[in-house]
Amino acid sequence: MPVTRRDFTRLLAFGGSSALLSNSAFAGDSRALYEMGFSGAPLPPTPQAPDEKFWGEVRSRFLIPQDVGFFNAANLCPASLPAIEAHERHLRKYETNPSPDARTELMKGREEARTLLAAALRVTPEEIVITRNTTEGNNFVSSGLQLGPGDEVIVWADNHPSNLGAWTTKARRFGFTVVTVPVPASHPGPQGYVDLFARAFTPRTKVLAFSHVSSNSGDLLPARELCALARERGALSLVDGAQTFGVLDNDLGAMQPDFFTGSLHKWPCGPKEKGVFYVNKTVHEKIHPSVIGVYGGAVGISRQFEGEGQRDDASIAAVVEGLKFQGGIGRALIEQRSRALATRFQTGLARIAGITSHTSADAAQRAAIVIFRPGDLDPRKLGAALATKRRVVATVRGGQDRSGVRLSPHFYNTNAEVDRTLEAIEGYMKSGV
Ligand SMILES: Cc1ncc(COP(=O)(O)O)c(C=O)c1O
Repeated sequence: MPVTRRDFTRLLAFGGSSALLSNSAFAGDSRALYEMGFSGAPLPPTPQAPDEKFWGEVRSRFLIPQDVGFFNAANLCPASLPAIEAHERHLRKYETNPSPDARTELMKGREEARTLLAAALRVTPEEIVITRNTTEGNNFVSSGLQLGPGDEVIVWADNHPSNLGAWTTKARRFGFTVVTVPVPASHPGPQGYVDLFARAFTPRTKVLAFSHVSSNSGDLLPARELCALARERGALSLVDGAQTFGVLDNDLGAMQPDFFTGSLHKWPCGPKEKGVFYVNKTVHEKIHPSVIGVYGGAVGISRQFEGEGQRDDASIAAVVEGLKFQGGIGRALIEQRSRALATRFQTGLARIAGITSHTSADAAQRAAIVIFRPGDLDPRKLGAALATKRRVVATVRGGQDRSGVRLSPHFYNTNAEVDRTLEAIEGYMKSGV
């Protein structure tokens, strides 16, 4: 089944705001940008205990106007200025000399990006495929495994369509069965989630596919325990890490999934339309590529899975600067900072009369997504007022199922941006929109 109308409306509802980010001063004159306080220069060394001054330095490496509070990381993140400048450099260099030699040189960037991705996830470059996005990685799994009549795949009802509708579409074609685990009313705790999924297993289960963090509730799932459960029951695991790679300091060596997917244009703040697909070396023989062509990667599984013909090598090479920018700050620190900002939101929202949260009150059970219902206010009107009157970008979820406003802060946000957003929400809750 392709994406349904309902899925599509749901995705659009999370589309965010638009015009407030346009600004002719951002048309590409880097000197003007630097005069406005932005900087592509290397960050100062990360202090032992980073303060708001340091995070302000981080903020100045992102081109979002400084009076805009951007809390839409779960949808799409800005690339850092070092990544943008690297992309532009690679592109200009290649377009002035589009020779095979220049291309071969540029493609070295792809291998460097692979090495950095492997290091970030604590795995080997032989297990990394550079894809377009999480959607592609998820579909590589559902299309690439040998599944048929009698086989069962467990999915979670809160999975993204690329890990939900994709499975049911292929189930119809190949004859396997999809078993859907329902969304609990609230986060049942890590063991509660393990029990919920455990009940869905049968001797016919071949795959367990779930989101590491739900983009609809912000719930963080116990990925390591769920992967262990799948392994014990003789099934493969697919962890959709779209909402954790680049924000949580994921250690796939410890998590031990068979497959893990992510998008570099989300939390990793890399170039657009780049993703990562991890394939555990123990299952390389079990998955078949969906696209067969030339220009595969240089090592391991990328030789079979990256033969996608001509690609945008300049932007792939820019992945390197994007990853170095985050890696230079430190992935554990980025996790700590983003979670602290989400907690600042969650705590502040809990103090505002009339607000209820769809996200767990326990900080350990969420990452950096907070979704709340603004009492009787229409979330769409609140989202629009925040965008147009207060220059705050949040995402709005309409409909009957967990409608509300989603705030997804990241390491480029400041405490001051969070506080003024809370103040604005409190004002609207008191006076209406
Ligand atoms: C859990 C999850 N998986 C997959 C995706 C799709 O990501 P992309 O559009 O980058 O493929 C999203 C997007 O929000 C998501 O939240």
